[in-house]
Amino acid sequence: MATKKIAATKSKAKAKTGPSLPKRSSKPWGQDGKALDGVRILDFTHVQSGPTCTQLLAWFGADVIKVERPGTGDITRGQLQDVPHVDSLYFTMLNHNKRSITLDSKSTEGKKVLERLVKSCDVLVENFAPGALDRMGLTWDQIHLWNPRMIVASVKGFGPGPYEDCKVYENVAQCAGGSASTTGFRDGPPLVTGAQIGDSGTGLHLALGIVCALFQRNRTGRGQRVLAAMQDGVLNLCRVKLRDQQRLAHGPLREYSQFGENIPFGDATPRAGNDSGGGQPGWILKCKGWETDPNAYIYFITQAPVWEKICDLIGKPEWKTDPDYAKPGARLPRLKHIFDTIEAWTMTMTKFEVMTACNAVDIPVGPILSMKELAEEQSLRETGTIVEVDHPTRGKYLSVGNPIKLSDSITEVTRSPLLGEHTDEILGDVLGFTDEEIAEIKASGAIGETQKLAAE
Ligand code: COA
Repeated sequence: MATKKIAATKSKAKAKTGPSLPKRSSKPWGQDGKALDGVRILDFTHVQSGPTCTQLLAWFGADVIKVERPGTGDITRGQLQDVPHVDSLYFTMLNHNKRSITLDSKSTEGKKVLERLVKSCDVLVENFAPGALDRMGLTWDQIHLWNPRMIVASVKGFGPGPYEDCKVYENVAQCAGGSASTTGFRDGPPLVTGAQIGDSGTGLHLALGIVCALFQRNRTGRGQRVLAAMQDGVLNLCRVKLRDQQRLAHGPLREYSQFGENIPFGDATPRAGNDSGGGQPGWILKCKGWETDPNAYIYFITQAPVWEKICDLIGKPEWKTDPDYAKPGARLPRLKHIFDTIEAWTMTMTKFEVMTACNAVDIPVGPILSMKELAEEQSLRETGTIVEVDHPTRGKYLSVGNPIKLSDSITEVTRSPLLGEHTDEILGDVLGFTDEEIAEIKASGAIGETQKLAAE
């Protein structure tokens, strides 16, 4: 039911403005392969931040070889398992389109394999704790000696400075990067957000750095180091809050509801609840069913250019000319009353009915969509943003596909690899080890036991 309503709204918008995915080019050169075909990645990533980066590169066509510790592999394979003895959704949803080789990179035979991997790849991506790569013998000097074209890309918690040696996870980065201090309600504690801006956000930053380094290598012939620190990535996403920090020196932040409520500002950007960050007052309002449905809400923005339409829609045409309401500045001290009045109107309809009514007159609103609603949204399936993937031991599951659409590099999401599933083909076909050499590597224990496909 819910999804039907969104679809109806979307098709209305489409009829007017025609938003659509980039279309595949009809030119012959536009149909030849993927954007990053020919790029090979030595993927030494684990948990979330690094794997999101290499998954994106794989979706754009890079050959991503994930190197995992024999026995356990990426720790997320076994974390938050919903089905016993099956790779977790945590792992599968972050490692699509990759190949997996198991390797004890600290053993003598393992080091030989690693050297050959470095020599055959374009980019090494890692997100180990600070110093771990060096301790493995993979210093920048050593890598550059073996392969001067190699790009070495790292996620770390912090950049150079007092905290550079610290290990960091998602919420640590959200707190250290300014997100937590500016999220939540003024009278409550700092809050972390559900969007993984520290991990996935930094992976995205790193992917851009890698693609830039590949582009520059075309001119210089040299590889370079790429660093994306999680604190920096989060701060980048909190840019508007640093903007507000500086505006504070010149007076109160007038668009924050705290201004209208006459509550004095301190010396740091405060938490702003559900105020909009863009200078246009906004708030989350109840819709029909809010008493039992935790997501029966809508984000409503009282944008100045559509103020008159809002007045008409909510049955307050007199506000269009009333000096207390007609101009944005006059409205600021009355925002609570204004939103209470709009809410009395939104509560008479479902969030989808509010969306339809508002979009009909170009008032932007945001229905609070649950993960259930998003998972069931047909239009997201059609664009490949939500995909169903088949896995040999888990069966079918939903995942988020590539959110970035290129007209000449269409993403096909394939399942994550089993632990060590591609060890043999990588040792033989990619690295050129002979059968005897492979037997020696195996006998040394450097690759451990590999997981077999259930079907075999
Ligand atoms: N063969 C042999 N050893 C391997 C290996 C392999 N294939 N893969 C990893 N290891 C070793 C590493 O060399 C390291 O050994 P060392 O510390 O003795 O030198 C060890 O495994 C563990 O690495 P580490 O990164 O310290 O893992 P951790 O579980 O203790 O810490 C993090 C996890 C995420 C906190 C840490 O990696 C980190 O801070 N990363 C950078 C920031 C980051 O990406 N955080 C977000 C993750 S979502």
